[in-house]
Amino acid sequence: MALASREGKSSLAGLWGGGVVAALFQFLPPLPCMTFLRTSLLVSLAGYLLLTGGCGQQRSDSTRTDGTAGRIKLGFLVKQPEEPWFQYEWKGGDRAAAQYGFELLKMGVPDGEKTLAAIDSLAANGASGFVICTPDVRLGPAIVAKAKAAGLKVITVDDRLVGADGRFLEEVPYLGMSATKIGQLSGATLATEMKRRGWAAADTAACIVTFEELDTARERTDGIIGALKAAGFPADRIYKAPQKTTDIPGSFDGANALLAQKTGVKHWLVAGMNDTATLGAVRATEGNGYKAPDVIGVGINGTECLDELRKSAPTGFFGSIYASAPTEGFRTAEMLYLWVKEGKMPPLDTRVDGQLITRETFEQVLKAEGLL
Ligand code: GLA
Repeated sequence: MALASREGKSSLAGLWGGGVVAALFQFLPPLPCMTFLRTSLLVSLAGYLLLTGGCGQQRSDSTRTDGTAGRIKLGFLVKQPEEPWFQYEWKGGDRAAAQYGFELLKMGVPDGEKTLAAIDSLAANGASGFVICTPDVRLGPAIVAKAKAAGLKVITVDDRLVGADGRFLEEVPYLGMSATKIGQLSGATLATEMKRRGWAAADTAACIVTFEELDTARERTDGIIGALKAAGFPADRIYKAPQKTTDIPGSFDGANALLAQKTGVKHWLVAGMNDTATLGAVRATEGNGYKAPDVIGVGINGTECLDELRKSAPTGFFGSIYASAPTEGFRTAEMLYLWVKEGKMPPLDTRVDGQLITRETFEQVLKAEGLL
């Protein structure tokens, strides 16, 4: 990540600068009256060198010779950099950077502390703004305050910031999934595939992995449940399995606890807010003795399920609602750039739709997207 290495370089240069100052003072006469003067001189010189990156090692933007002189710098901060979804968003952001000629600083921000430190780093590095998918939407007011103080523009992607009163910070431009609609498509897919397999509702139950503290997640799982009910699936056979963490182990544990309680079910419908939610639950069905033909799992994202869909033998993971992460990354980075460069205010709420991908269709869809 560009910024991480840049930071490493400047603090090393600073330390080196401090060392040089200390060495110089070895040669000053050891007069007692000089102690205060020596100390304050040492502190201010070392401070200056730390600030400037040490002995003029770091060039200012206007004198840089690496082709980035004077370029606008924008940050792209994501909560789970290990997830393909966010890597594909970065890819889209990189494409916008190449097209418009700005510098994109990509940073992983897995917790609140790292998020606030990253905003400080961006400010220190002369960035003009950042796109963020925050690790916790309740950091909203702190993120906005810090950005404002540093004169940085902010656009949120995926997870919408909320204020202390739990309401969305609607003044911060947001781009994300049409969560309810995408959830409904997931639920309708489960119902259609169940009918195709000829399962009786009395033998079937639905395990919906939930993470309700995150609005986009709750809207998606509410959409799934709504669509199942609308298709005539009995409401009392739809069970929520809350996940404590939004990764495969988190959803595996949530689904496992549910499956252990609900015995006597022949077939399971499985879904959640994203691919990892569904993958964890499908693994839990396997662990509880269910065979692939008795499970229909539908994810959302279409980015964490590719290895699963490529497996030579089908698993219970049937398909995913693909929404384009590269497009989301490209559009947010582009909107931020045009806001900084031309003062063009981005729309406050932009939504992206999804489409079903399965073992049969995912390669064709993802190739068209430039992901494969
Ligand atoms: C959330 C999820 C991601 C992805 C995005 C899409 O951030 O954690 O996996 O689904 O939403 O908007």
